Amino acid sequence: MEIIRIEGIAKSYGNHQVHQNLTLSIERGECFTLLGPSGCGKTVLLRLIAGFETPDAGRITIANTVVTDPAAGIHIPPDQRGLGVVFQDYAVWPHMTVFENVAYPLKIAKRPENELKNRVMEIVEMVGMKGLERRLPSELSGGQQQRVALARALIANSSLLLLDEPLSNLDANLREEMRFEIKELQRKLNVTVLYVTHDQEIALAISDRLAIMDQEGKVRQIGNPWEIFERPADPFVFNFMGIANFVPVRRAGEAYLVGNGEQIIPWEPPKGDAPKWIAGFRPSDVQIAPQGAGLRGTVKRASFLGAMMDYLIEVDGAHLRTSIETHEAVARGLMFKEGENCVISFRDLLWFNADSLAEVVKQ
Ligand SMILES: Nc1ncnc2c1ncn2[C@@H]1O[C@H](COP(=O)(O)OP(=O)(O)OP(=O)(O)O)[C@@H](O)[C@H]1O
Ligand SMILES: [Mg+2]
Repeated sequence: MEIIRIEGIAKSYGNHQVHQNLTLSIERGECFTLLGPSGCGKTVLLRLIAGFETPDAGRITIANTVVTDPAAGIHIPPDQRGLGVVFQDYAVWPHMTVFENVAYPLKIAKRPENELKNRVMEIVEMVGMKGLERRLPSELSGGQQQRVALARALIANSSLLLLDEPLSNLDANLREEMRFEIKELQRKLNVTVLYVTHDQEIALAISDRLAIMDQEGKVRQIGNPWEIFERPADPFVFNFMGIANFVPVRRAGEAYLVGNGEQIIPWEPPKGDAPKWIAGFRPSDVQIAPQGAGLRGTVKRASFLGAMMDYLIEVDGAHLRTSIETHEAVARGLMFKEGENCVISFRDLLWFNADSLAEVVKQ
């Protein structure tokens, strides 16, 4: 059953159209992520749902109540929408201590002092802020302020949480820990989470379903993390979900040749009769060897990244990247130097029409 329904939303600032005819549904109890490049309209959409902005057209329904519908003159104010919200700029009240900030929603709800204290301490501990209850926001780091904002959104026990990049100011370890916490909490309390980020890794880890938006605010694909990663709807999604190689392939009779050379790509040919294709694959889907079957190429750049080796390889004018675990590279004699010859083969490969890719490369 859906808890949020967004229908035909349009929103412009001056002559900049951020959203046009956007339609999306979020199911009760799921963690749904909006993932898209910076400036694509994620925060604007959250502000529309929360009621801090009004759309030019369209309708938003939360738990069967229409909260926004400009055509019908409906606009329910934010505090009556029953939402827990963490904004990207982690707005915490500067004149209140950590304790007071977190306690605020319970104070407004007039909860008894005893319950309030216990709940605040519980949540403060959960977000790793124990011992800092008496501090003012000006005495906290950006990441600590973000945790206060998160604690304040969690404490109200609302069944719907809107989280806009709530972990962006945390260091890598804490971010990882907190994303598990959010997921855990979402399951335990059976709340619906609408999560907004441009971080692919977080989106894949935390989501039941995610929507990928492009620069124009258009939803390119909705699916579970596995579908988005393994079955990208188009090159934009593929590219956005990690580093992708896009290698031009041209058709010559029955053969499909890589770059400007005569080597046949060692993969099942595409379906369709276009003359030009793009082979898309991730660096981890390329195998490199000193010799054997596959495409012959040259190592143009070898980068040691600690756990991984990253190679840039040229094959007949086409460039592609491959990555291999350093342990494996050492154990199997695959530590290449720049200028050395190599042979590559594929573990996985997707075909894209060369025309549809042109549109993606431009972004
Ligand atoms: N109040 C406003 N007035 C004018 N333009 C705005 C306003 N709010 C947002 N915009 C513009 O709308 C577009 C979408 O902004 P938004 O904040 O939703 O992006 P975002 O997807 O959240 O990006 P990020 O990942 O960087 O947070 C941007 O081009 C932004 O400049
Ligand atoms: Mg934003």
